[in-house]
Amino acid sequence: MKFFLDTANLDEIRKAVPLGIVDGVTTNPSLMAREGIAIEDQIRKISGIIDGDISAEVVSSTAKEMIVEGRGLAKIHRNIVVKVPLIPEGIAAVSALTKEGIRTNVTLCFSAAQALLAAKAGAYIVSPFIGRVDDIGWPGMDLIRDIVTIYNNYGYKTQVLAASIRGPLHVVDAAKAGAHIATMPLKVLHQMFHHPLTEKGLEEFLKDHNRAFQLAGA
Ligand code: E4P
Repeated sequence: MKFFLDTANLDEIRKAVPLGIVDGVTTNPSLMAREGIAIEDQIRKISGIIDGDISAEVVSSTAKEMIVEGRGLAKIHRNIVVKVPLIPEGIAAVSALTKEGIRTNVTLCFSAAQALLAAKAGAYIVSPFIGRVDDIGWPGMDLIRDIVTIYNNYGYKTQVLAASIRGPLHVVDAAKAGAHIATMPLKVLHQMFHHPLTEKGLEEFLKDHNRAFQLAGA
């Protein structure tokens, strides 16, 4: 399973990269807005920090505009994946960009039917938002399971990216369901490390080691 960081914040990406387990970054217009820097400039900076897929989202509304915007984003760096919303104009843009060899991430996916549309258009990635589905009282993880089953049935190459992740259990359940990628905030990546027995065990190991060597040296 690939791990992406769901952020447009440079410091967060810099903190995570040394772990060596982050395969890419996803951004969206809300995350970009928090940074207050022009999308192209911020994407260029992110490309200089991490070598992996970086999703940059279009903000126009017609297929024609999205295609032009997508071409511009894709030119910033070879790792850019153009993120496009799951609406008819977006799917038309994905079909056109795919034919040009530009990789796309179809975002705001909330149903298996929508995910089928993304795969048929040749999307490189589809992003079902599990947390937001959970938020309205539906089982978000069922969406991942259904999409993985459908894509496997037909051999679609589109990668399933579990998005809108709220905690470590979402990552584990998405992995069990066969999602290819999980994108998560830095906080969730950090939460994945925690286990009280690891922390307690390490404390005891170090205490024993220090006691033995301090005594030996005394
Ligand atoms: C990822 O591609 C999405 O933009 C992101 O995961 C959305 O997460 P949220 O529901 O926490 O805003």
